[in-house]
Amino acid sequence: MTMAMTPAADRPTIDVEKWRADFPIFRETVNGKPLTYLDSAASAQKPQLVIDRISRVYEREYANIHRGIYHLAQVATEAFEDAREKLRAFLNAASANEIVFVRNGTEAINLVAQSYGRGFLKAGDQIVLSRMEHHSNIVPWQILRDQIGIEIKVVPIDRDGNFLLDDFEKLLSSRTKLVAITHVSNALGTVTPVADIIARAHDAGAKVLVDGCQAVQHMPVDVQALDADFYVMTGHKLYGPSGIGALYAKESLLDAMPPYQGGGEMIEQVSFEKTTYNTPPHKFEAGTPNIAGAIGLGAAIDYVNGIGLDAIAAHERMVFDYAWQRLQEVPGLDIVGRATNHASLISFVMDCAHPHDIGTILDREGVAIRAGHHCAQPVMDFFDVAATARASFGLYNTREDVDALVQALLKVRDIFG
Ligand code: ALA
Repeated sequence: MTMAMTPAADRPTIDVEKWRADFPIFRETVNGKPLTYLDSAASAQKPQLVIDRISRVYEREYANIHRGIYHLAQVATEAFEDAREKLRAFLNAASANEIVFVRNGTEAINLVAQSYGRGFLKAGDQIVLSRMEHHSNIVPWQILRDQIGIEIKVVPIDRDGNFLLDDFEKLLSSRTKLVAITHVSNALGTVTPVADIIARAHDAGAKVLVDGCQAVQHMPVDVQALDADFYVMTGHKLYGPSGIGALYAKESLLDAMPPYQGGGEMIEQVSFEKTTYNTPPHKFEAGTPNIAGAIGLGAAIDYVNGIGLDAIAAHERMVFDYAWQRLQEVPGLDIVGRATNHASLISFVMDCAHPHDIGTILDREGVAIRAGHHCAQPVMDFFDVAATARASFGLYNTREDVDALVQALLKVRDIFG
């Protein structure tokens, strides 16, 4: 869990106090205490730049998009499409036509399940998921299974929460048509070997969907280098607004896939006898989208790019390493998920208190963590726990936040131990 040394000249500039000052929420207090926000894996806080950008849309640039011929409609359309281009560059997609705006990661996966799945899979085909998927990368495939009779295979994990690549390979066969795997586990923090997964799945002739909702805010992602067929991300964990996310899909796939939802914008020509469809990505964007949300997400990407994902990753690694070491000082605390390749979140349990009790005591100290099954009940079953407490770190977190966490956990120990 240690960082490789980078030559001083190449080291990214880290100025966390300046970054933190960009987020107005940190001027708030909770229960009379400074806010210690350790729940960025659930949703990240928003920098002023994003908040201002959204306000500006509504104050000065708002109209519906792709429809009006008047000035404001053109301004809003340009800003919306500009945000799509920012997402394209952020993921290094070959074309902005490969970026479909959706509400969130869940909607992106449901879109693929219902459009690609119903369009191209048939009874007896297999799809492969992993044991550590979020419910949003399990339930849409179960719905598809019940609709068309596909089979679901599950890649096991080990007791540290590592993805087992060899076991994965053994599940692949000519019947495997799709592999849908998380890039980073929200419950364990495991970073999965997506490049190897994709290469092996492609060798077996399967397409691959990567759920990047917990990844893109922590590490650079290049969908072309990965050769991902589908890559899913959400805006609200990337310091952008909620209610907006993106599905990346190769253009050839989007061209061939049937529409997901019908309505305005996704059509070319409609009559009662026959409807023809718009080209991607519009074919998959029925109805008025979250216009200000998409533009706000574009601003969040500008913000993250302005700092640099390398600087963010290096800083988060430092905070994570410090937290990992300091949590060992809390008697009776057990970390759940010790994968070799780990993102900046830590799940844990304590022998003296239920995670909900931990969360409640921490809240009194101004420390916000998530407690529960993290929408990953198969992971909880595997580790034989009903729930875990989870501290997750963003670019604004500091060693002082970790100190506040540890101090509050020691209070939990005093109360329940
Ligand atoms: N999926 C989000 C989390 O892990 C909500 O907290």
